[in-house]
Amino acid sequence: MSSDWRVSDRVGKIGKSAIHEMTRLSKQVEDVAFLSWAKPTSDTPEHIKQGAIEAIEKGLTAGYSPTGGLPALQQEIAKKLKEFNSIEASPSEIIITVGAIEGLSAAIMATIDPGDEVILPTPTYSTHIRQVVIAGGKPILIPLIEEDGFRWDIEATRKAVTPRTKAILYCSPSNPTGTVFDERTQRALAKIALENNLMVITDEAYEFFVFDENKHFSIGSIPEMKKNTISCFTFTKTYAMTGYRVGYLHAEESLVPQIMKAHIPFAICAPVVSQYAALAALRGGQDCVDDFREHYLTTRNLMCERLDRMSSVFEYIKPGGSYLMFPKIVIEGGKTDSSTFCKKLLMEGRVSTTPGVAFGPTGESHLRLSFCVSEDEIHKAFDRMEAYLL
Ligand SMILES: Cc1ncc(COP(=O)(O)O)c(C=O)c1O
Repeated sequence: MSSDWRVSDRVGKIGKSAIHEMTRLSKQVEDVAFLSWAKPTSDTPEHIKQGAIEAIEKGLTAGYSPTGGLPALQQEIAKKLKEFNSIEASPSEIIITVGAIEGLSAAIMATIDPGDEVILPTPTYSTHIRQVVIAGGKPILIPLIEEDGFRWDIEATRKAVTPRTKAILYCSPSNPTGTVFDERTQRALAKIALENNLMVITDEAYEFFVFDENKHFSIGSIPEMKKNTISCFTFTKTYAMTGYRVGYLHAEESLVPQIMKAHIPFAICAPVVSQYAALAALRGGQDCVDDFREHYLTTRNLMCERLDRMSSVFEYIKPGGSYLMFPKIVIEGGKTDSSTFCKKLLMEGRVSTTPGVAFGPTGESHLRLSFCVSEDEIHKAFDRMEAYLL
């Protein structure tokens, strides 16, 4: 409840974002080593920028597109969903959204009624929890089993289902843990969803960034799940297009007009110039994506090596995907207040990280580190952490 009469209860009960708070504080620190943001630091590839520039020069970007997006882009996405995600999608089942975030918001607003319960893992991407709360839903947080590589607890999920449960919502690869929920896990979730008439809403923002033996699996590719899944994707991470604000969702045909009713009041349509850039991204060569993946694999390995040298302070699970990891702070008997720890590390050690408590109750005593930065930035951050913490 907010103390300000002008503010809705819905928004008033949402706390400040720890990520934005760390960004604000980081500005007060000179020459900070910055590992706080899950945002690609590379520039957008040239051919994608050109796609936007050409569309502007041809006068194609001043108006709205159809609310579901440019038909040519919907068609390219249908191809990509088939080839990469094994999702059989027709272009009319796709809505182009303002990043994955607006797609998730529209999906949640279209499916969750006040009081509905939504199952999420903890730790998880904090925005998902906020989106459920804004819709009036009740987040039901199921702890991942950290000792077993942040494994999804299927039995606990099954037991958490009540007559009010409406949906399961998660990202794979995960922000913040970097866990890739494998096909077997997601098939077990699909079984629970089908047995209980639940929607599954996925956030597949990091779908292209998986390492080692891990494989990205889309639950929407299971034919029986067609009516029960809304799958959300983005250009933000895959093509370093954060500021373009363009993503998309896929849902079964009869649900699309309902989701559209939530999409229109938030966005009318996704930015048209960005939709042309997205078209260039899909039609152009995909080497840039391989290059980004290669870079994140190198920086992941480097971060793990540097963490190995600090084993008296941190224990970690090697992330199988994304460009994030979630080490546990093992000093103070593993009961460290992550906000205090991160603020001190920032102010006294000049390294910006994100406190784990921002990602759900079981995130406490952890910190999130991003490796979507240069190798130099990782060395700078870890040199300072070694000097400050060892
Ligand atoms: C899991 C996850 N989903 C979505 C987003 C944001 O995606 P977009 O820029 O496409 O809205 C992020 C950004 O950090 C993220 O980590």
